[in-house]
Amino acid sequence: MKLLVTGGAGFIGSAFVRLVLDRHADDTVTTLDALTYAGNPANLLDLEGESRHTFVHGDIADVALVDALVAEHDAVVNFAAETHVDRSLLDPTAFLRSNVEGVYVLLDAVRRHDRRLLQVSTDEVYGDIPAGRFSVETDPVMPRSPYAAAKAGGELFCRSFVISHGTDVVVTRGCNTIGPRQYPEKLVPLFLTNALRDHPLPVYGDGLQVRDWLHAEDHAVAIDLALRKGRAGETYNIGAGNERPNIEVVKTLLARLGKSEELIVHVPDRPGHDRRYALDWTKIREELGWAPARDFTATLTDTIDWYVTHPEWWAAIRDGSTAFAEYYEQQYGWRLAAAGRGEA
Ligand code: DAU
Repeated sequence: MKLLVTGGAGFIGSAFVRLVLDRHADDTVTTLDALTYAGNPANLLDLEGESRHTFVHGDIADVALVDALVAEHDAVVNFAAETHVDRSLLDPTAFLRSNVEGVYVLLDAVRRHDRRLLQVSTDEVYGDIPAGRFSVETDPVMPRSPYAAAKAGGELFCRSFVISHGTDVVVTRGCNTIGPRQYPEKLVPLFLTNALRDHPLPVYGDGLQVRDWLHAEDHAVAIDLALRKGRAGETYNIGAGNERPNIEVVKTLLARLGKSEELIVHVPDRPGHDRRYALDWTKIREELGWAPARDFTATLTDTIDWYVTHPEWWAAIRDGSTAFAEYYEQQYGWRLAAAGRGEA
């Protein structure tokens, strides 16, 4: 299969590109990536010289480029997205462009060329599940942050193309994902890299919010199965069964690093913070035979070990440009000050 992977220089995207090249000897992959702040050529460095991989620098909202690329490939897997809830609260403009308009451009191209689109989405489209039941694929979409609204918007365009044009689209909704090469703005890579430098760990509110934690390689395997075996027009939840309160994840991480819990600082909460996500992923397990290979301990341990052994990767981001420092100051400056702690 000739695959076009959009957003393949990002975190889960690059894990997916690597997985496809490892598992499917007859496949070729073209990565299309705009290399915005989280798209990182270093994520694909080990593929240099790999004849089955090609990199194209460009935007999924570029109609002519996308049309030409889709025509040359058998299927498209779309990881290209703005993904950070906190940034969407600061300014959702880029989220509309990538997560809605970009998805529309891809959809229109796969419709014209009669290809399959695998749209990578998120459990955040369901909104908050404070306790009890788990979201199933037929539940209503009730996004609560600008990020989740934009992802839901992209999904709704997918649904409309399936119904109106018979376009071949499969959607996956994944839970919180960690592992190597995640941009250090999300909880786990931010806290790991802060802890390694003895900087404070800014826990939002009481830290009792619950997320389900999945390894990026397990997530990539699920997407690969959904791409090849998923039924057209269907949506598949990808959960892990690793529900944990944030504070427990943070304390486990500190213990593993041998760092003090005194680094934890409770700071003002994220506005509209979803208390809990919880997925029922029976459908992908029963239909496609998927289950994560790693439990919570293996998932977190592998992630920690990678950041500990690859300081050059994350230091290049944290120290190498002003973009990270500016974001950090904007996002945490006032929060840490409000909690009575300055930046270390
Ligand atoms: O559930 C899937 C989603 O998981 C993906 O669609 C998103 O792209 C991904 O960013 C993630 O969303 P979250 O908002 O859950 O991830 P984040 O790592 O930003 O936050 C995880 C939890 O940790 C959340 O309850 C907020 C909390 N948190 C996060 C940060 C960055 C803190 O307490 N302090 C922080 O500094």
